[in-house]
Amino acid sequence: MITLKQRTSEEIYSQACEVLPGGVSRNTVFRKPYPQYAGSAAGCYITDIEGACRIDLANNMASLIHGHAHPEIIEAVYEQMKKGTAYTLASEIEVNFAQFLCDRVQGFEKIRFVNSGTEAVMAMIKASRAFTGRPKIAKAEGAYHGTYDFAEVSQTANPGNWGDINKPNSVPVAFGTPASVLDDVLIFPFNDIERTLAILDREANNIACVLIDPVPHRVGLLQATIAYIEALYHWTRKNGALLVFDEVVTFRVDYAGAQQKYAVVPDLTALGKIIGGGFPVGALAGRAEVMKVLDPRESKLLFPHSGTFSANPVTMTAGYIAMQMFDAAAVMKLNKLTSKAIQQLEEVIKIADIQASITGAGSMFRIHLTAKPPTTYREAYQSKETGAVINELLDHMYYKENILMINTFACMFSTVLTQREVDMFTEAMLRAFRLLKPKIDSLNK
Ligand SMILES: Cc1ncc(COP(=O)(O)O)c(C=O)c1O
Repeated sequence: MITLKQRTSEEIYSQACEVLPGGVSRNTVFRKPYPQYAGSAAGCYITDIEGACRIDLANNMASLIHGHAHPEIIEAVYEQMKKGTAYTLASEIEVNFAQFLCDRVQGFEKIRFVNSGTEAVMAMIKASRAFTGRPKIAKAEGAYHGTYDFAEVSQTANPGNWGDINKPNSVPVAFGTPASVLDDVLIFPFNDIERTLAILDREANNIACVLIDPVPHRVGLLQATIAYIEALYHWTRKNGALLVFDEVVTFRVDYAGAQQKYAVVPDLTALGKIIGGGFPVGALAGRAEVMKVLDPRESKLLFPHSGTFSANPVTMTAGYIAMQMFDAAAVMKLNKLTSKAIQQLEEVIKIADIQASITGAGSMFRIHLTAKPPTTYREAYQSKETGAVINELLDHMYYKENILMINTFACMFSTVLTQREVDMFTEAMLRAFRLLKPKIDSLNK
């Protein structure tokens, strides 16, 4: 038998650059001077092809709630795969999983599965337009909702183009975004009731939905206040618009998602990530009256929608098992461990005598290199200098401490992490902060 020599990541990357733009299929995995290639992963550890084993605190951008290759998920998926991986027929497992999610969350009366968070948000916006007959949406400056044209507006707004806070500019992400798209997206400052309502009032009759992520990662991983969500809810009731939540990431925050915290219920919710049990997924759930726009039995179908791999039985199997295992006790245990990690990290910040703060909710947190935690996107916005120091910290954690974090200096925990890994993480952070203290201090001069 011929055994091929395992190539190094550098060698693979040089081939990758010949066939993939920049050598990658998703910019998230890009790393200078070259990305590392995964060899294998199990539990909360990931090993690259060079053999370096790391604690994984990124969990494929928050999607692996039980870490890698959970035996129960793998076994169920394997059994399903033997029966076929995709059909031009519906499958019973999608109905059972739909029932499970609708029973889990108060506002989920109907659900439709899609293949990604981007697609879920896109379907949510289109359903809102179809239901209200209105063209415009409103969203928070800096919030990431995937890559649908309308949803991504102002996601990367910067001091050079974001404009007056009382009327933030609609800033394109991709070059060539049509001006008509920008015209149909109103931008408001997250958690700022007065300004947001004033902005919404200007287009009160044209807004199909107010799109909000209750703990938007890119805005700073700040939690929407109860007063803010209630103000948005009441504005939408008064003005005939829908309140729609992007819980693609935040569904992990509580048993019924981050929306559990609020007394008001969103009309629609976009889901993704953890509900796929490690496989590509998205879903749109919400009020039956609104979801009717998708119903092919209607004489006038307002939002025709399909998708070759939607409700794929492999994903449905993995997701159903993963979400059953992520029961109320598992959510609580995970959130408790995360709180403990944050506590330890706060200690570390004190011991290292640096200016840093932490934001987050549930099993997610983000570290900021400012003494006070930011309260707005504009405060959380990282200058080039801050970004460079954060990259150095992330590189140190990755290469020297063997810990993989999310590139915004955030962590999204999984249920398979233990106090042992938390201790290893916080001890490593102390070494990283100490090493880079002069650079961190220079940011605050
Ligand atoms: C809040 C939020 N919405 C939507 C998306 C898009 O999901 P996907 O990458 O599955 O398309 C993401 C992805 O990170 C996200 O964080």
